[in-house]
Amino acid sequence: MVGSAIVRNLQSQAFTNIVTRTHAEMDLTDQAAVKAFFEKEKPDQVYLAAAKVGGIHANNTFPAEFIYDNLMVQNNVIHQAFLNGVQKLLFLGSSCIYPKLAAQPMSEDALLTGKLEPTNEPYAVAKIAGIKMCESYNRQYGASHGVDYRSVMPTNLYGPGDNYHPENSHVIPALIRKFHEAKVANAPEVIIWGTGTPKREFLYVDDMAAASVFVMDLDKATYDSQTQPMQSHINVGFGSDVTIAELAAAVANATGYQGKIGFDPSKPDGAPRKWMSSNKLNMLGWVPRVSMELGLQNTYHEILEQKFMTQ
Ligand SMILES: NC(=O)c1ccc[n+]([C@@H]2O[C@H](COP(=O)([O-])OP(=O)(O)OC[C@H]3O[C@@H](n4cnc5c(N)ncnc54)[C@H](OP(=O)(O)O)[C@@H]3O)[C@@H](O)[C@H]2O)c1
Repeated sequence: MVGSAIVRNLQSQAFTNIVTRTHAEMDLTDQAAVKAFFEKEKPDQVYLAAAKVGGIHANNTFPAEFIYDNLMVQNNVIHQAFLNGVQKLLFLGSSCIYPKLAAQPMSEDALLTGKLEPTNEPYAVAKIAGIKMCESYNRQYGASHGVDYRSVMPTNLYGPGDNYHPENSHVIPALIRKFHEAKVANAPEVIIWGTGTPKREFLYVDDMAAASVFVMDLDKATYDSQTQPMQSHINVGFGSDVTIAELAAAVANATGYQGKIGFDPSKPDGAPRKWMSSNKLNMLGWVPRVSMELGLQNTYHEILEQKFMTQ
């Protein structure tokens, strides 16, 4: 999802020499393949959007794969980028790097101040290692080799290219599927798990791509003005959050579902709030452009056009 959006963004800026690889074309856990790729392509800049990602169920079922794959992917890419003279690299992390009980909104300095959420700890530990890998290469090779590797931590993302798997998707694609199917079936009511009161933050993927390119392109003095050598990551959020009930109403609206929305409070709610501080990014001069209403409409239209789901 994010990798494709970054490519769209770069193409819209008239970049023509964009080199990509899908998972089928190259397994980034394969050190020899990554080495051969960098030696052949010699890129100037690298956006590392590939990762093994998934929801609570996948993280709980495959913890070994989540830590191994993500560490291998990022170690191979970051190290081979360095060996092949890449000076600019952007690593994509996640808001789950922050402690489970971090103060809200979560700011960059909350990193490594407390225990992580156990369900996705292996994934989060790999992401933290990715940030620290970038920082360590900057510290050791910044002056000598001009290495400037940066990290961005996205909030929950949605948009074209998302995963609509019935059991293994994030909240927005899951709700879009639920309301779309209810509309097609003329169902009188859609029931949402939990009370609807937890608050979450969402960012449209093209905004995430724009923020990624913005952070990559910042001159070093400006980037350094909001970061430190050992705390160099930047949060990328929407700036405000919504309740699950508000989100459900917005998705119902985008899909054209006109029935009732009910809640099942016997089902778990999860954390009451997960909200990131985007102050640093805002201070650097970036704000999101796509409202939730527009983002959901775009997403739903794209799904209907691509026929990702049966209509
Ligand atoms: N989506 C969100 O809400 C969200 C939130 C916070 C952070 N992020 C971060 O943003 C980045 C992009 O996420 P996304 O939502 O765009 O996920 P995505 O749509 O699943 O994209 C990740 C891509 O990485 C590929 N990949 C996985 N393992 C690979 C390997 N060993 N070798 C080569 N390619 C591999 C996947 O291919 P396959 O699908 O074929 O495995 C997929 O194409 C990730 O770092 C993620 O942690 C995403």
